[in-house]
Amino acid sequence: MTVHPTFPESVAADSVFLADVHAGLSTPQKTLSPKYFYDAAGSELFEQITALPEYYPTRTEVGILDARGDEIAAYLPKQAALVEFGSGSTAKLRRLLNHLPDLAAYVPVDVSGEFLAEQATTLQKDFPDLTVEPVVADFTKPFALPETTGMAPRAGFFPGSTVGNFEPEEARALLDSFGAILGPDALLILGVDLVKDTARLEAAYDDAAGVTAAFNMNLLKRINHELGGDFDLDAFRHKAVFNPNASRIEMHLESRKDQNVRIGGETFAFRAGETIHTENSYKYTLDSFKDLAARAGWQSVTVWTDPEALFSVHVLRRD
Ligand code: TRP
Repeated sequence: MTVHPTFPESVAADSVFLADVHAGLSTPQKTLSPKYFYDAAGSELFEQITALPEYYPTRTEVGILDARGDEIAAYLPKQAALVEFGSGSTAKLRRLLNHLPDLAAYVPVDVSGEFLAEQATTLQKDFPDLTVEPVVADFTKPFALPETTGMAPRAGFFPGSTVGNFEPEEARALLDSFGAILGPDALLILGVDLVKDTARLEAAYDDAAGVTAAFNMNLLKRINHELGGDFDLDAFRHKAVFNPNASRIEMHLESRKDQNVRIGGETFAFRAGETIHTENSYKYTLDSFKDLAARAGWQSVTVWTDPEALFSVHVLRRD
């Protein structure tokens, strides 16, 4: 077990992690929450995923944002405040900013305060005339926009098909909540991955170099290091399958044999072939996504795709 300096936050965080792991491994379909993917190693692996040859979403979305930047700018009211939900690295936003000279403010929202502050500082250096107002918050919960955004017209930015990592009903609630946060007459620009042939989808989540596998397996590593678990990493494998009925890629960790795993004083039994379900990535059609958005009160203004129709960027408006 990792020896922690005894400051209460890390102990509290570990006990929540442990409780989540115990609960997730105690249900008939074992699960682990994808929110635990992103420690330092996981975040680094995720950055690598976005550059993989098989992982088409990032480069395709960036291509659409570059090609359509001026059109996006034309939809935005003058002196708008742009709010990015879950900003992470500001790579995509930078592409957009080159097309948006008269933005009143950029409001990156992220749970990781340290990373956010770093990103905001370098962005401010590169765009000295832009008002950058970071907000440390979990974007799945209501939060207030900075006072200084005042009466500026608002636009939201939610790239990366992150919307696809929520259950459709949660995604609807999330879009509704974005509307409440942004206020009346807001615009929302978001990236949504599209349904396509199964081989292409599955390859994007199970690359030849094994980076996505390492990303998924990192969950078990974290449990071993931080919770004193004894997962035998060689006895599990990464699995990514498209579930056509639910229209989603499912990521699992599959047990290669019958085995027991001990974590924090409890034992969990695995049968050969049994899986831990770690994440979903829902894939939409242009219409199925517009329907979902409409149920959250957002009307489609326009939508763009790349020439192969792999990925889509939607512009939505809410009255
Ligand atoms: N939202 C993106 C997607 O579903 C990025 C992503 C989130 C992802 N979790 C992932 C990519 C796990 C690969 C593996 O594609």
